[in-house]
Order: sequence, then C-alpha cells, then structure tokens
Amino acid sequence: MGAKGALIVFEGGDGCGKTTQVQLLAERLTKHHQILLMREPGGTDVSEAIRAILLNPKLSIKPEAELLLFAASRAQLVRERIIPALEAGLFVICDRFVESTMVYQGIARYIDLQAVEAVNKLALGALVPTVTFLLNVPCQISRQRIVLRNGADLGLDRMEREDFSFDGTIQNGYLELAKKYPDRMVVVDGTPDPKVVSDTIWGHLKAKGLV
Ligand code: TYD
Repeated sequence: MGAKGALIVFEGGDGCGKTTQVQLLAERLTKHHQILLMREPGGTDVSEAIRAILLNPKLSIKPEAELLLFAASRAQLVRERIIPALEAGLFVICDRFVESTMVYQGIARYIDLQAVEAVNKLALGALVPTVTFLLNVPCQISRQRIVLRNGADLGLDRMEREDFSFDGTIQNGYLELAKKYPDRMVVVDGTPDPKVVSDTIWGHLKAKGLV
C-alpha cells in the first residue's frame, strides 16, 4: 500500500444509509485528499457486467456461483482500480467489500465461512482495508427506508427480494462479525440524522490519525 493511501470501507444491510455516508465522507475528504469512490459489486467494466448478472431478478443463481461471481467482481476491482489508487496515495472509499460476502453468502446463504474467507483472500491478495465502518440500523428501520425510497414492493433487486434482507439475519450477521473482528470493524449507530452519523465517522478517522 502507498504511504498516504487508505482504504475506507462502509458496510451494513440494505437501507442502512451507506451510500449517503459514502457521499458525505467523500465531500469532506476531498478537501484534504485525492479520493476514489467505489461501490461493490462494480467499479470496472468487468465488475459492472458481473453486477448486472448478480442483481438481475430474472436469474436464479446458486449460492456457490453467487459467491464466486461477487469474488470475481472484487478480484478485478482490487487489481484494476483499488491497488493502483492506493499506490498513488489516494483515499479509496468503498461501498461494501469483503464483509458483505461473509454476511450475505456466508451467514445468510449458509456457505461455509472458512470457504468464504478463502475466496475473499484470493480476491484480495495482500490488500487489507484500513478501516471498515459498519452502519448499524435495526432491520425494521432499513425496510421502512427502502419502502420510502422505492415504493411498497417496487424496484427491489435480486438480493433485496430475499427474505433474509430484512428479517434481522443481515444486521445480526454483521454484528456477529464485528464482535469477532473488533480490530478491523468499527460499529457506528446509523439511526441518527445523517450529518450526526457523518461527524461520528469523521471522529473515528481523526482518532486513527487518518484525517
Ligand atoms: P446495491 O444496489 O449496491 O445495494 P446497496 O445499496 O445495499 O449496497 O446491491 C448490492 C447487493 O449485493 C446488496 O443487496 C448486498 C449484496 N452483496 C452480496 O450479497 N455480497 C457481496 O459480496 C456484495 C459486495 C454485495
């Protein structure tokens, strides 16, 4: 990793406010650093093509195939965009990363977590995120936010249509992971006003000496 670069990851269930927080942090960071914004799956031509498959509600994808598609998208993104950006000293902000795979494919789809870890490791190589923020929002509130955003049942992608998306599996899965890996994950309450959440995140980055 480059001397000044950092990889800041946002994780959480659908409707936890990640995308808003990514935008708010980007606005703030860009005054101090050159940044690169990424969202997963996606971010390269190959990864966006894989994203279209993964989120297509018309496709029925087997869990193991799904795991490998997410990993393929990530392997490309890491090598094509993230590592070169870090080597150039950029701050990379990523909307979802390896913990998404641990929770959605490992915990929610019941794929062996060690297998998921091994696949993630292959996709990442030596890359390690500098910090991962978990935006913790009760699933009832996430669901309400999605309904407000998309309308009653309209516009849900293939993953959001799964029962586990809003029944607590994802939120609890993330909290379990955060307990298991306290060094790499910071849990942030995602329920207050977005500006308050953003200040909390900035405070953590300051405490870590990153900003
Ligand atoms: P997206 O529209 O980017 O959702 P969000 O705004 O919630 O991030 O869709 C990504 C979906 O893919 C989301 O439901 C989570 C899921 N996902 C996985 O299941 N595994 C993964 O490794 C990643 C990165 C995402």
